[in-house]
Amino acid sequence: MCGIVGYIGKKNAISLVVEGLKRLEYRGYDSAGVAIINKSKDLKVYKAEGKIIELEKVIPTNDEIIGNIGIAHTRWATHGQPNKKNSHPHIDNSGKIAIVHNGIIENYRVLKTFLEEKGFSFYSETDTEVLANLISFMESEYHNLEVSVREALIKVEGTFGLAVISSDYPGQIIAARRGSPLILGIGKEEYFIASDVSATIIHTKDVIYLQDNEMVVLTQTGYTIKTLKNEIVEAKIDKVDWDISQMEKGDYKHFMLKEIFEQPTSVGNAFRGRLYDNLSTTRLGGIGMSLSELRKVKKIQIIGCGTSWHAALIGKNIIEQIARIPVEVEYASEYRYRNPIIPEDTIVIVISQSGETADTLAAMREAQARGAKVFGITNVVGSTIARETDGGVYSHAGSEIGVASTKAFTSQITVLGLLAVLLGRMTNMSPIDGMEFIKEIRKIPKKIEKILALNDDIREIAKSMVNSTNALYLGRGVHYPVALEGALKLKEISYIHAEGYPAAEMKHGPLALIDENMPVVAIALNDSIYDKIISNLQEVKARDGQLIIIASEGDKLVKKMAKHVIYIPDTIYALQPILSVIPLQLLAYHVADLKGFNVDQPRNLAKSVTVE
Ligand code: AGP
Repeated sequence: MCGIVGYIGKKNAISLVVEGLKRLEYRGYDSAGVAIINKSKDLKVYKAEGKIIELEKVIPTNDEIIGNIGIAHTRWATHGQPNKKNSHPHIDNSGKIAIVHNGIIENYRVLKTFLEEKGFSFYSETDTEVLANLISFMESEYHNLEVSVREALIKVEGTFGLAVISSDYPGQIIAARRGSPLILGIGKEEYFIASDVSATIIHTKDVIYLQDNEMVVLTQTGYTIKTLKNEIVEAKIDKVDWDISQMEKGDYKHFMLKEIFEQPTSVGNAFRGRLYDNLSTTRLGGIGMSLSELRKVKKIQIIGCGTSWHAALIGKNIIEQIARIPVEVEYASEYRYRNPIIPEDTIVIVISQSGETADTLAAMREAQARGAKVFGITNVVGSTIARETDGGVYSHAGSEIGVASTKAFTSQITVLGLLAVLLGRMTNMSPIDGMEFIKEIRKIPKKIEKILALNDDIREIAKSMVNSTNALYLGRGVHYPVALEGALKLKEISYIHAEGYPAAEMKHGPLALIDENMPVVAIALNDSIYDKIISNLQEVKARDGQLIIIASEGDKLVKKMAKHVIYIPDTIYALQPILSVIPLQLLAYHVADLKGFNVDQPRNLAKSVTVE
């Protein structure tokens, strides 16, 4: 979603903040802008609709843009159209204060009316412009930017990650957060503020993750962090443990393709150090629960959105099968407003790649408010979910840039498999089965490599789908959520309407859609329900549906039914989804690429959905 970058130091700010914005492009945006205070202590603001390249076109190359302090923003529209007028930075009526803001000011209408009565006028439809003028109003009373920002934020209901500069205070950036992530990057005689470490990692790996209701004052010589109640905070400096190379595409055409190809490593990282051969089980140190506490778990609720929700459905299937513990899966956005029942001895697991998804955070807080034990499966170290849960497991997928989640998904389901075994070995699972899981999971990275070697064949198959307007994805059991995930991938990046179904449901309605123009992608592997799904697929075939089947190596029967077959290696049931989803990721990728779409930044979507 929206991105923020700010710089104060000795270098020229504009090039640094624009470069930082480029590193945030992957989050998705529809306009961009920058504000600097130049050598003459004038505030200069430049904005453009569209991509950062459009912004660069409107930034002059003369001396008026030379200055050591700047803030910049990429906007994903919430209030008002994605145009230049609504894009950030917003300035107050005096033209001295500029602000960039992520989040939503919920009481902006009340504040706007109040300010209009005081004589302020507004030029955009945004809540952020209201905040700029509220700070301006406070400034007329306090004549101290830090105090004015604090007093304004005290009046605000809603969420914010923001940065403010003023030409009256040419040596200060004030930044604050509540609900929207913000980090402080600490360089050598220079400081950065950003919504995401990706924007600043090239300059420094020393960061402070600001907490909710904290505010930081940055100058060229240092920083002070305080709460919105004006109490000094001694914040810990963290080291970012990943590298800039993760932010580069290398030889790949798109980040999504690179991330698909990283899965042998990312899945390996998700289970490395977590297999416990001696006891044929797994260990997940971060959960924050002792084995005796885990033994008492009677029920699990798993919450997430989008791809993470699909991972949760797979987790349900595997945990129930291996550990015989009932699992409920909920959309985070529904959970919060549903007055959820959380019985005693229930653990709540929130799954989120980013650890910042607003709906998931709200659901997590709702469960915590009800006294539930909540732990998180997240990818981003230091994210809000990682910090606010009682315990958690990092999925260790590495930085994921493509909006369409791929390697984060396979890492999530790897972690859920480890959890299923941990719980199962305390209840229902024999040491022999535990050891079989361990042996099999170690073989998974090689098996993924084997599937990736089919990349060219899958591109050929993708050609048959390029002109389709609809597609169906079918699976049963643990592959039903994989079918949902395959359909989501196709929708997100190729804009082809696609639906996932449990294969047996076809005859209850969707079969009516089948004709010779309908591609039907099905997962039919060698497992206990193989015969059942084959019958379902015969029904599709009988109506001329164009079957693309993901099948187990050596299966000759499917060859006779399908237009295309993609063979994948065998593994145990609990690990099959890690393999079966990979051809679907590649298929979606190639369809979108063949259609010439911006695969990494699909229209209307953002990488991290930080609004409800
Ligand atoms: C997946 O391809 C998506 N872009 C999206 O559904 C995503 O999984 C969802 O927004 C949840 O994000 P999270 O895992 O960061 O919470």
